[in-house]
Amino acid sequence: MSFPYERPRRLRRSERLRAMVRETTVSPAHLIYPLFVAPGSGVRREIASLPGCFHLSVDEVAREAEEVERLGIGGVILFGLPHAKDPLGSEGYADDGVVQLAVRAIRAACHELLVFTDVCLCEYTAHGHCGVIEGGEVQNDPTLALLAKMAVSHAKAGAHVVAPSDMMDGRVGAIREALDESGFESLPILAYAAKYASAFYGPFREAADSAPQFGDRRGYQMDPANVREALREVALDVEEGADMVMVKPALPYLDVIRAVAETSDRPVAAYNVSGEYAMVKAAAAKGWIDEDRMLREILTSIRRAGADVILTYHAKDFARKAV
Ligand code: PBG
Repeated sequence: MSFPYERPRRLRRSERLRAMVRETTVSPAHLIYPLFVAPGSGVRREIASLPGCFHLSVDEVAREAEEVERLGIGGVILFGLPHAKDPLGSEGYADDGVVQLAVRAIRAACHELLVFTDVCLCEYTAHGHCGVIEGGEVQNDPTLALLAKMAVSHAKAGAHVVAPSDMMDGRVGAIREALDESGFESLPILAYAAKYASAFYGPFREAADSAPQFGDRRGYQMDPANVREALREVALDVEEGADMVMVKPALPYLDVIRAVAETSDRPVAAYNVSGEYAMVKAAAAKGWIDEDRMLREILTSIRRAGADVILTYHAKDFARKAV
């Protein structure tokens, strides 16, 4: 049977009807909002490359988290700007590091907001790479102990979930083991499993002051051309103990999200990264697009591709508009 009997437009005639048959939903509960913690107090400085997002000192970050919780957003993920950087990124795993202090402050200020922490050295190392450098190269195995230490320090501060984003081989296993040894066997790991070497991280690297001082990250982050390799990364991370797996970036990798969602039985997260956000904001500032409609369409497409959870700088804007 086809036209004139079949008329798909019949179910598009009113918003009530459209809403009733809608296949994909997005709610603030699905979202995680990234926060950048800076040293000092009373600091609330807008990030030029991420309009509407701020560098926040520990006191300010707790207030921001309260607002995020009030908006019904599921969680926050924390990134830190240390006081000082060194070759081993030691502020990243210091008990009084900015992220550790921020976790404590947010846990004290909020009730149920989930606190995720990004586990990676690049914000804390003077060279800006995600691991220990020897002979001009990022060394995999010596980096694992530092990442494990960082994850345990986040757990001790009260993080609900740790999220390694470094792309060293074996880091999920090393972190799982260290957490278990320290009595955190119930703390979940969200692995940045398929993280691509992407130009879409540009604005973040300005925000987190984490651009590599030499070379690039293509020796450890994935080649944008590969999808089967993403499935292998996911399988390895799950084998090592990942409870949730992430694909990053989101929009240019919707096919990867779909493939991971179809092959893995773990919840899938997608990171709608800084460059994706900056493009929308820049076009909106020019008056070239309808930002509200565009961000709803973007988040819907990421969920439709198969993501359960979305990390996004749009979370507050979306939640303010969500009915
Ligand atoms: C740290 C990290 C990065 C992002 C999240 N964690 C930067 C990078 O790998 O260069 C990017 C997030 C974004 O662009 O929004 N390794």
